[in-house]
Amino acid sequence: MTEYVFILGKNWLLSIAELLVHLEDLGLEVRIADHSRNAVVVKVDQVLDNGQLVDIQSALGGCFKTGRVITRYDKEIAEKAFPVRGKIGKDARRILQSCPWVSEVWGKPKNKKIKFGVSTYPMVDDAPRLDLKRFTLGMDEWIKQKLTELEAKKAVYYAYDEPDKRDEKRPNTALWPATIARHKLLSPPNAEILAIFTEDTLYIGRTVVVYDSQLQQYRDESRPYVSAEISTSPKLCRTLLNLAGARTGDVVLDPFCGTGTILMEAAMLDMKCIGIDNNAEAVRGARSNLKWLSIELDQVIDYTIIRGDSRHASDLVNAAVDAVAFEPDLGPIYSDTPDRSEAECNIKSLTDLYNSVLQSVAQLLNHGGRIGMTVPVINSSEGQVTVDLSAMIDQTGLEVREMLPEEQVSGSATTHRRMAIRPGRRTLPERKRGQIVQRLLLMLERL
Ligand SMILES: C[S@@+](CC[C@H](N)C(=O)[O-])C[C@H]1O[C@@H](n2cnc3c(N)ncnc32)[C@H](O)[C@@H]1O
Repeated sequence: MTEYVFILGKNWLLSIAELLVHLEDLGLEVRIADHSRNAVVVKVDQVLDNGQLVDIQSALGGCFKTGRVITRYDKEIAEKAFPVRGKIGKDARRILQSCPWVSEVWGKPKNKKIKFGVSTYPMVDDAPRLDLKRFTLGMDEWIKQKLTELEAKKAVYYAYDEPDKRDEKRPNTALWPATIARHKLLSPPNAEILAIFTEDTLYIGRTVVVYDSQLQQYRDESRPYVSAEISTSPKLCRTLLNLAGARTGDVVLDPFCGTGTILMEAAMLDMKCIGIDNNAEAVRGARSNLKWLSIELDQVIDYTIIRGDSRHASDLVNAAVDAVAFEPDLGPIYSDTPDRSEAECNIKSLTDLYNSVLQSVAQLLNHGGRIGMTVPVINSSEGQVTVDLSAMIDQTGLEVREMLPEEQVSGSATTHRRMAIRPGRRTLPERKRGQIVQRLLLMLERL
């Protein structure tokens, strides 16, 4: 088994679930070796080349960086070498300072001009015993020293970036993907070194590929039709496509296509797209977005957008479908918290809508095909109200497929409450603080 490391998005559990299902769909045997809230180390039964890792990273919505594990240390060594308080452990410093793994990353650095940077990811956002900033800069310095000893012509490092402007309180000791791209840190002999802390271990890794945030942002903001009210985020669209098991060449259906964000992400991955929406403006908008994307990519995109009611999807679509991914109508946009009976009434009618659509869509879906979808959770004045999944899939021939299966996650046991993974989840939340309507993601499979 070979170990790879993935840097997780804010919704760390969903990012892990998506990653596991995607790797399994690629025919890989995979299990988690270790994890934190910022990163996961997975063991895979095959050696993956850089091209395969690039394809994996670019298909994922939830992960920011993909890399290889180079070596590991007991976390205690780093805690002793860079304590927040108290005496510095000189032996621990010597162990980290020697960086024997540098030759594994750079081979023979002699006469090379090398740019690099260390990105450190703590176990959770707080790291009570370890001074992460000093640790990161210390590693930067020691790697530079080692490269100089090995006669590199030049060795310069880029220190970690400032915190994200949207979340300034969240400490940051990593380089942002944009910085990595700007300084070409992934073009050898340059490198980004990952330092990842889990409950007991410090993993040292080397990044192979990072998420292309600028490209996705450009697509999201520059397309001709976008609606702040209904558009789903492109990253969530990727996650839904992975839950649906959609692969290159597949026919993908979005029965609530709105502005077409899921279809655009599917088209980027060379899938054939079918969208349905009952709103004429959305249909026009989705068509103009797909046309725009085709011009931007200078590539023919196979897409059909149909105006109609998805409760009759099987009459509207004249093709077998490999995967279905969607964010349905999530009900009213509340300006005030609704009381429980109002929320229950809305959820009931949405459940009926989803059930009718799923009955019809399931007729188009190949056996063994999957659906990735969201359902709403309403935070009413008397607790949360959400869809009854059994009622939603009643008479559809669909089954809920569990995420985070026990056999894949059992290797990553932790005693840390905020990091525990409960296996076999039927749904996973996608939360934004303060929202009245939140979402759950789930995966259905046609028997
Ligand atoms: C949350 S939005 C989808 C957003 C979409 N993923 C995007 O990125 O723009 C839900 C969409 O479902 C459409 N819709 C609601 N009921 C429908 C139905 N019965 N059949 C087809 N479309 C429907 C709405 O018009 C709306 O565009």
